[in-house]
Amino acid sequence: MHTPVLLQQAIENLNVKSGGKYIDAAYGEGGYSQEIIKQGGRVLGIDLDINQIKNQKSKIQNLNLIQGNFADIEKLAKKNNFFPADGVVFDLGLSMRQINESGRGFSYNKPNEPLDMRLSLDSELTALNLIKKLNENELYEIFAKNSEELKSREIAREVKRRKRIEIVYDLTSAIDRVLGFKSNSTYARIFQALRISVNDELENLKKGLEGAVRVIKKEGRIVVVSFHSLEDRIVKNFVRNTDLRFLKKKPIRGIRLFERSAKLRTIIK
Ligand SMILES: C[S@@+](CC[C@H](N)C(=O)[O-])C[C@H]1O[C@@H](n2cnc3c(N)ncnc32)[C@H](O)[C@@H]1O
Repeated sequence: MHTPVLLQQAIENLNVKSGGKYIDAAYGEGGYSQEIIKQGGRVLGIDLDINQIKNQKSKIQNLNLIQGNFADIEKLAKKNNFFPADGVVFDLGLSMRQINESGRGFSYNKPNEPLDMRLSLDSELTALNLIKKLNENELYEIFAKNSEELKSREIAREVKRRKRIEIVYDLTSAIDRVLGFKSNSTYARIFQALRISVNDELENLKKGLEGAVRVIKKEGRIVVVSFHSLEDRIVKNFVRNTDLRFLKKKPIRGIRLFERSAKLRTIIK
């Protein structure tokens, strides 16, 4: 069974009204959308990954599901008659299905998968292309900025030194070589750093937030569930420079094991 992160808290904070229009900007496996619909809302579901859309096989009443980038949320909302909307929810990152079944090398636990890491298969830039295209210093900057891993310089050097970097195993073994031992937390940070860069995730979040504010009505809400301190910083800075406000000063944090790195913030227009 698919268990979305912070589901009850996200839906409660979205303040769903019967007949209201909501945009689930990162549809995933649809857990949030289903709950919004259960509470009487109508949903525009957006996902960048076409497989997430195709996997939603049964038709759901009051759900309009489309492939797209939430960076274009304003355009998508207008085109699909969800402008203005009562609320928008962004549950960032990846779903378990993408990690376990996509075959795109998102997880360090899948040694034989190619280093692809694209969310949108329309995009040409894979993690492998990125590693090949960048020089050691540029790769170091991605690791250092997006992962804050202390051994970023040495890992970038080792990755660029290797003749063969094609699959997940090649990257984890380069990390092992630098550290001298296996470290899941370093793998996780380096993989996440690459994925963020391949998919331009931080830029998409900034554009998504700007668009969402234009899309929602006065007093409408934007709920963001993030998994990375850089994402949370973007949300905080975004509100700081506007007339928007947070529902609560402190973020709600995940408690269960799989959601412990999650932070939920609610913005009110
Ligand atoms: C953590 S999952 C969402 C899970 C969802 N709340 C649920 O209940 O199943 C995040 C989803 O956001 C999608 N995504 C990531 N970046 C996106 C973007 N820029 N635009 C649209 N979807 C995006 C991913 O493909 C993934 O399916």
